[in-house]
Amino acid sequence: MISAPTGAPHARILGVGGYRPSRVIPNSEIVDLIDSSDEWIRTRSGIVERRWANDEETVQMMSVAASRKALDHAKISIDEIDCVIVATVSHMRQTPAVAALVADELGADHPAAFDISAACAGFCHGIAMASDFIRGGSARNVLVIGVERLSDITNPHDRGTAFIFADGAGAAVVGPSDEPGIGPVVWGSSGDKAELIQTPDWFEANEAKETPWLTMEGNPVFRWASFAMAKVGQEALEKAGITADELDCFVPHQANMRIVDALARSMKLPETVKIARDIATMGNTSAASVPLALERMIEEGQAQSGDTALLIAFGAGLVYAAQVVVLP
Ligand code: COA
Repeated sequence: MISAPTGAPHARILGVGGYRPSRVIPNSEIVDLIDSSDEWIRTRSGIVERRWANDEETVQMMSVAASRKALDHAKISIDEIDCVIVATVSHMRQTPAVAALVADELGADHPAAFDISAACAGFCHGIAMASDFIRGGSARNVLVIGVERLSDITNPHDRGTAFIFADGAGAAVVGPSDEPGIGPVVWGSSGDKAELIQTPDWFEANEAKETPWLTMEGNPVFRWASFAMAKVGQEALEKAGITADELDCFVPHQANMRIVDALARSMKLPETVKIARDIATMGNTSAASVPLALERMIEEGQAQSGDTALLIAFGAGLVYAAQVVVLP
C-alpha cells in the first residue's frame, strides 16, 4: 500500500495585493470611438474611468508586482510558496504558462506553476483549488494570481465592450490554518451559453489578418448574472453555515455596478454588509477584479481582518465560482 497524502486541517487567505496600471482612461477618452457618452456609460455600467496597461505593464510584470504586495501582506517569504496558479485569458502565448515565469521572477524555489482559464471567475477557482491543495497535502502555501490585459483584445470601436474591459492584477497568498478560513466552493458552468462571451479561433483570425477581439452579447449576460448568480451566492452562504445577517463583506466580480446592486438586492443582504464597488475606477478587469476589489476594501478600512466575505465571480464559458472566506 502507498502512503496517503496528508495536509493541513484548514486553509485561509493570509494576504492580498494588487497592481493598478498607470494609464487612467476616463470615459471621455472612449466615447467618440463608440458614439456614446460619459452619462450613458456611468448610468448603464457605473464605470467612471478604468486603467489600461502601457507596454511595460505586461501580464508577467503586473502579476509579479501584485504578488510582492500579497507576500508582504501575508508576511510569507517567496521560499515558502510551493504552488503558483495564474488565472488569465489575456496572456497571449499558449505556452509556456506565465505562472512559471512569474514564479521564477519572484525567486521562488521551483514551485508547481500553471495557468488556468476560467475567465472572470478564474481567481475564485484558484482560491478553491489552493484550499484543496493545502488540505490535501499537495502544497503548503499557494500564490493565486488573477491578471488581465484585456485592452489587447478589446476592440476600441465595439460599443458593447470598449467601455467595460480593463487591465490589472490581483494576488492572494493561501496557507494552512487551524480554523476554517475558506468555505466550500459553489461552482459550475453553462457551456450552452459559450457564444455569449468569446474570442474567435485564433488561427482563423490570423489567416484573415484580424485581431482576435473579445465579443460579448451584453444583455443576456447581464440577465444571467443578475438572477442565476444570486442563487449561487445564497448557496455559498448556506454551505459556509452563515446567514446574510452574519456576513461582513460582499465582494462580487466587478462586471457592472448594476449587477453588483441587483445581486445584493436579490440576496437580501442587510445594510450592514459592506459591498465592493471597485468597478467605478477600474472597469471590468476579469480575473483580477475580485482580488483588486478585496485589496481596496482592506486598504481603505472598509473590511477588517477576521471579517467574513462572500466572493462570487462569473464570466465567459459561461462559468462561475463562489465561496465565503475569512479576511486576512
Ligand atoms: N453607448 C451608448 N449607447 C449604447 C451603447 C454604448 N456603448 N451600447 C449600446 N447602446 C444602446 C443600444 O443601441 C440600445 O439602444 P436602443 O434602446 O435605442 O436600441 C441601448 O443602448 C440598450 O442597449 P443594451 O445592449 O440593451 O444595453 P444594456 O442595458 O444591456 O447595457 C451593458 C449594456 C454591456 C452595459 C450590459 O448589458 C452589461 O453590463 N452586460 C453584462 C456585462 C458583463 O457582465 N460582462 C462580463 C461578464 S464577465
